[in-house]
Amino acid sequence: MLFLKRKFRIAVLVSGRGSNLEAIIKAIKNKKLKNVKICIVISDNPEAKALKIARDNGIKAVYLHPGEFKTKLEGKAEENYINTIKKARTDLVVLAGFMRIVKSRFIQAFPDRIINIHPSLLPKYPGLHTHKRAIEAGDKEAGCTVHFVNEITDGGKRIMQARVPILENDTEETIAARVLEKEHKILPAVIQMFADGLIKYETFPDKPIIYQEK
Ligand code: GRF
Repeated sequence: MLFLKRKFRIAVLVSGRGSNLEAIIKAIKNKKLKNVKICIVISDNPEAKALKIARDNGIKAVYLHPGEFKTKLEGKAEENYINTIKKARTDLVVLAGFMRIVKSRFIQAFPDRIINIHPSLLPKYPGLHTHKRAIEAGDKEAGCTVHFVNEITDGGKRIMQARVPILENDTEETIAARVLEKEHKILPAVIQMFADGLIKYETFPDKPIIYQEK
């Protein structure tokens, strides 16, 4: 008898362009990401290109009203997000360019099962304008981090990082493009590790895995 293994189900939360979502979809299509299904894409922005990317690829994608606050998710809207994600039978919540702070009720609804991709080498530069801040500080390298989400913004345990050099004539935009290429690699790589049961919050070390180009 043939037993089909249940796929690992991820919900992807987005706000805009959706290039990280696209990278996950591509990785699933070309079988670099195995045994993973995007069960739902949720956006807090009805105009997000990410919604179209999902729908064009046959993935359920919804806009959910984010409520009364500009930068956080709380109250009735938060409840709606939680219920929708739960209904989709989600194993992992992936924040992929979701430009909103999630609060304790959301975090507790999916314990140790929410990850975020952030464009800096955390703990350096949590928050916005990461590449600008790296240039201003005279840093020689930039990068990105996939980390667990907790109640400190961009402050949860780091899972994987990729580094890129900052070159002499770099601008925010050129660094962002170089970093984005790496984001598109480490986010699917971390999702695969979750799907394979290789990442557990309690046993994960304090230092992140450093991504090496193959
Ligand atoms: C990425 O740079 C990600 O690190 C940050 O928001 C951006 C989202 O880009 N959290 P995209 O929507 O995936 O193209």
